Amino acid sequence: MRGKFITFEGIEGCGKSTQVRLLEAFLQGQEIPYLKTREPGGTPIAEAIRRILLDPACREMLPETELLLYNASRCQHTGELIIPALEAGKIVICDRYYDSTYAYQGAARDLDDEIIDTLTAYATFHTVPDLTILLDLPVEQGLERIKGRNLDRLELEDISFHQKVRQQFLFIAKKQASRYLVLDGSKAPEDLHQEILRALKFC
Ligand code: TMP
Repeated sequence: MRGKFITFEGIEGCGKSTQVRLLEAFLQGQEIPYLKTREPGGTPIAEAIRRILLDPACREMLPETELLLYNASRCQHTGELIIPALEAGKIVICDRYYDSTYAYQGAARDLDDEIIDTLTAYATFHTVPDLTILLDLPVEQGLERIKGRNLDRLELEDISFHQKVRQQFLFIAKKQASRYLVLDGSKAPEDLHQEILRALKFC
């Protein structure tokens, strides 16, 4: 039986990585076969592309190049890792997937959604998440949480960029409500974890 594909989305500092970790610990404890991965990245080639994408020194990168590199990374990651894991019946937990492209490159960089549709279908081999968990919170709160870290090229964008990202995630979640679970990312991590487990019907 095909496994389940669960993706996490949200603005910078929304708490995705914490929730991915907590869910991973739960699956490990239950001895449920799973794969934890992330985008951009997840395989050696995709991680190499990630380094270029996030390097603050890559200031000259055109939005169009950025879009293609995110999709190149996704294509390698999906074909090499995600599809085989799903075919092996695993639960795949992915920190970001193509909704991030619609939010960051589509809305915030103002690139054409139709081009993104075509690239997404191609790069994912038409793989669609079974469930996407959006951790939503005000941009100011998210950016406050990441203050003091070494910020990457995208995190260094101004607040209006991140506002567009947040609004687009909320828009997609509304449009594709059957695939989405929207949670209040300002809640305590353990409470959010319990909400996620309830939604996954593991307990
Ligand atoms: P991360 O900080 O959650 O690991 O994600 C890396 C950065 O890449 C984050 O700033 C969001 C950005 N991103 C895009 O702009 N487009 C995408 O398609 C993906 C997957 C991530």
